[in-house]
Amino acid sequence: MKKVTVELHTPYTCLIECGSLAHAGSLARKYVAEDGMAVVITSATVRKHWGAAVEASLRQAGLQYHVLEMRDGERYKTLATVEDLAERMLALGGDRTTTVIALGGGVVGDVAGFVAAVYMRGIDVLQLPTTLVAMIDSAIGGKTGVNLKNGKNLVGAFHQPRAVLIDPLALNTLPEREYRSGLSEAIKYGIIRSRELYAMLERRRHDVRRRDPQCLEAMIAECVRMKAEVVAADERESDLRRILNFGHTFGHALESATEYRRFLHGEAVAWGMIAACRLAVRLHRIGGEEARGISENILELTQPLPSIAVEAEQVFQHMASDKKARAGVLHFVLPREIGQVEMVRGVPENTVRETWQEIIQYSREHGTA
Ligand code: NAD
Ligand code: GLY
Repeated sequence: MKKVTVELHTPYTCLIECGSLAHAGSLARKYVAEDGMAVVITSATVRKHWGAAVEASLRQAGLQYHVLEMRDGERYKTLATVEDLAERMLALGGDRTTTVIALGGGVVGDVAGFVAAVYMRGIDVLQLPTTLVAMIDSAIGGKTGVNLKNGKNLVGAFHQPRAVLIDPLALNTLPEREYRSGLSEAIKYGIIRSRELYAMLERRRHDVRRRDPQCLEAMIAECVRMKAEVVAADERESDLRRILNFGHTFGHALESATEYRRFLHGEAVAWGMIAACRLAVRLHRIGGEEARGISENILELTQPLPSIAVEAEQVFQHMASDKKARAGVLHFVLPREIGQVEMVRGVPENTVRETWQEIIQYSREHGTA
């Protein structure tokens, strides 16, 4: 078992252990009030695979609980879903002593976390992430929220969980494409902050790709450790936490230019990180050789990736309107070397356009149709 503490005003623990979902009840017992109840928010897909184990452990721990399913998928990450869940919680007798247990990927975690943030002005939430993205990123750090028609995550709140329980074996049922997409967030941590993690992902690529449990536990723990460190230093993303957006300025533009249909988030971020490497070379912030090596490693870990089948100008326009392009100025998190990134502001538009052209060509050579 590995344990990471997020050192915030109210610190909390992230436990990483293979098989731990079957013991979720004993963890929940520590946090659910003696006469309170737990409400597990999950999706039908996740419940089918992991619901029985979690529910059995809650019963074994003597907890009073209910399960609420929400529809699966990004398009249900909405205020309507939040309202529906809150109404159902109220009908079940949920009050200020109720604890939400979020069991699922990032969509379930973000929505359930937001329900907990606003239900009766805030109740406790435990995060039980079941995708790689959720285990190494979204379940930790307290960002919760939903989408509006015009953009992702535009309504939300910072609401830290009381604890996070990560069972790497839950990844056994995750579809291959979702898993690979999550690996892109893992290598991101290596590039932004840890040479060791980067080297491990390179050295043990085969084990990582085949989801070797020991390897997963070590990799997830290291990613969680880094996320915890960054969040503790900058909970509200006013400074250091921005480095977690490495690859995301390009990545988000790609997702929105393709109407969120062609790429999973991690796949878009993979191209986004490769684009950030090329941009850094153009701006003389990293050597060409090192940038090429990083790009190749990203590809080796995450491929096959869909190629970028849109025009450079189209993605550029989406980038310019992204909420990160503050006051019309494009800024990026760019690599300096493996394990170190920097914020670069005021990058000339033409340089960004040229980078897009270059990456689109590169993706035609290395991506799939
Ligand atoms: P997701 O939650 O949509 O899950 C992907 C798919 O995997 C879904 O169909 C789900 O039902 C299925 N699934 C989940 N666990 C499974 C399992 N163990 N076995 C089989 N199937 C399983 O996708 P995601 O990548 O986990 O999360 C993406 C969301 O996370 C986005 O909305 C994004 O904005 C958000 N996010 C939030 C943060 C944050 O800091 N809050 C960080 C990163 C991403
Ligand atoms: N996923 C980015 C963050 O938590 O800040």
